[in-house]
Amino acid sequence: MLLKGDGKRYIVSTGDKDLHTEVGVFKLGQLSDVEYGDIITSHLGFEMQVYRLRAADLFNSLKRTGAPISPKDIGMIIGHTGLNKKDTVLDAGTGSGILAIFMGLVARRVVTYEVREDFAEVARSNIALSGLENVEFRSGDMVEEICSLNETFDVVTLDMQAAAEVVPHVLKVLNPGGYLVVYSPFFEQAKDVRIAIDTAKFEEVVTLECTQREISFTERGTRPSTSRVGHTGFITFARAI
Ligand SMILES: C[S@@+](CC[C@H](N)C(=O)[O-])C[C@H]1O[C@@H](n2cnc3c(N)ncnc32)[C@H](O)[C@@H]1O
Repeated sequence: MLLKGDGKRYIVSTGDKDLHTEVGVFKLGQLSDVEYGDIITSHLGFEMQVYRLRAADLFNSLKRTGAPISPKDIGMIIGHTGLNKKDTVLDAGTGSGILAIFMGLVARRVVTYEVREDFAEVARSNIALSGLENVEFRSGDMVEEICSLNETFDVVTLDMQAAAEVVPHVLKVLNPGGYLVVYSPFFEQAKDVRIAIDTAKFEEVVTLECTQREISFTERGTRPSTSRVGHTGFITFARAI
């Protein structure tokens, strides 16, 4: 659930104990009786409205260990691969778990690997807060783990620095017709990934950048906002033969 009021947002689960905030303590035991849209009140009289949690709330409110993939790029990944409820996904690195969680809302199952032990706790807790039981977190280095994996997947997503080292092994774990997706913040990384993909012999290879412009409406006029989301990353798609 999402608690929202006066510019403040908190993500909570029905099983959570009291929520201590700067505007007072919310007794979360009362959440089992509330409906979406209801108001709950802290011991200091501060009111918050209860919302059903959506993935975009998680993007805005979850604890972060690094830069998560932005919703515009997640949209392109889901749209380009046609990700759906029959698909299984292999994802690395987990980071804050944002991409894994969004894909978990769409796919049948997501297995996500994170190499850093100090990031694992945040990733696990974010996945638990999402309430998704089809997202499995695993600790491990994807460069090594992919060599011993005995499962196959419909989509493999890589958002990690050494992605080009993983690419040569991806066809072994990708079902025919499935997609490899690599997110690269820099041209140099995208180039290394393209070279690895060309060597491994995929089909339908394309690298895309998704730009987003907000439109600003003011009394002076209507135009694209002058403060906007800049560059995020290049996304390379490649299909298994
Ligand atoms: C940019 S973050 C991923 C963000 C994530 N896609 C999200 O939406 O929250 C990159 C993550 O990859 C992890 N990583 C780097 N190398 C890795 C490897 N060889 N195996 C698994 N994870 C790795 C990093 O520790 C970091 O947490």
